[in-house]
Amino acid sequence: MRAPETAKRFMPRVRPQKRTLLTPRAIYSHLDQHVVGQDRAKRVLAVAAYGHLRRCGLPAERKGQIRKSNILLIGPTGSGKTHLVQKLSQVLDVPLSIADATEYTEAGYYGKDVEQLVAELLFRANHSVAEAQRGIIFLDEIDKLARRTQSYKTGGGTRDIGGEGVQQSLLKILEGRELLVPTSLSPQSGRQDVVQVDTSDILFIAAGTFADLFERERPSSRIGFGDSAQVSLRKELSTEDLLGYGMLSELLGRLPVRVQLQPLSEDELCQILAGPQDALLGEYQTLLALDNVQVDFSDSALREIARAALRQGLGARSLRGLAEQVCHDLLFEAPELRGQHLVIDEGYVRARLP
Ligand SMILES: Nc1ncnc2c1ncn2[C@@H]1O[C@H](COP(=O)(O)OP(=O)(O)OP(=O)(O)O)[C@@H](O)[C@H]1O
Ligand SMILES: [Mg+2]
Repeated sequence: MRAPETAKRFMPRVRPQKRTLLTPRAIYSHLDQHVVGQDRAKRVLAVAAYGHLRRCGLPAERKGQIRKSNILLIGPTGSGKTHLVQKLSQVLDVPLSIADATEYTEAGYYGKDVEQLVAELLFRANHSVAEAQRGIIFLDEIDKLARRTQSYKTGGGTRDIGGEGVQQSLLKILEGRELLVPTSLSPQSGRQDVVQVDTSDILFIAAGTFADLFERERPSSRIGFGDSAQVSLRKELSTEDLLGYGMLSELLGRLPVRVQLQPLSEDELCQILAGPQDALLGEYQTLLALDNVQVDFSDSALREIARAALRQGLGARSLRGLAEQVCHDLLFEAPELRGQHLVIDEGYVRARLP
């Protein structure tokens, strides 16, 4: 494939104003406004992102002086991995494309080629190659690419398409390469327009739960009523753990910044429900206020919802569904409750949650 004349349309656009360089502290404090807990992850991401911005600002001949800071996020479901990366791309003001590693295959198999990852980023960057080249590609479910021969995998063998092969094909784009990337997302037969994109500055963030590696230490005591059910800290995974799991050492080597997220505690779940920023229950309060119904949640009501979420074991992921169940009757009756001020307590929540 050769880059055609149409490549002209994708020439770098000059941005109207020069961006001021964000400091790690400024990046951290933006993340801190939107992401509850996960302090270590916020700090590590802030530093890596700062390095990314610094690197993008260097002339080509000096880029080699700063190592690319691709990141591996490890954390349980609903702990904020995707959420963190979304907030990071917002504060950095760079395009973000989110992909599931399992959708990709090594060239020649049915599925998407890894070049498509970059094509999607280019699409998110409104076809600006310059913008795409400083963007973020988030690769979720990287743990599902582990070699299937491992004893960790139950009934693995059958899904071996991809796996190690995709890990191999990711190496080339993680490393930094000039790639010819299709300019349209839908694969068409026949000739496709392509444009040249250099992946050396793209920040790759891979994420996975690596759940099997934590299975044995899952604390059963956390499912308790009464005392403030805190979840215990997880062990730090070593490189050996990840290699043993079936990740390729070459891939791990290209994801040098590694950070683990912790399961969210009851207090943190309460903060996500009713905290000062982006509070989930705030959405319901606003909706009900449109019907002139004022609703407040007591602290014990929040704890009751948080504990139900802990019992489900899906982190913050369960909160929306639980909040929906708790607020369902209120939303149904809102037009008849006009002018009232209601306080939702523990009993009200208990009656509505499993
Ligand atoms: N630490 C957090 N602070 C604030 N909100 C959070 C946090 N963690 C999760 N959430 C909320 O829960 C939702 C689900 O979280 P997210 O998608 O980030 O989970 P995840 O760690 O990527 O899980 P999975 O492994 O299942 O993809 C988010 O959209 C966000 O609203
Ligand atoms: Mg996610």
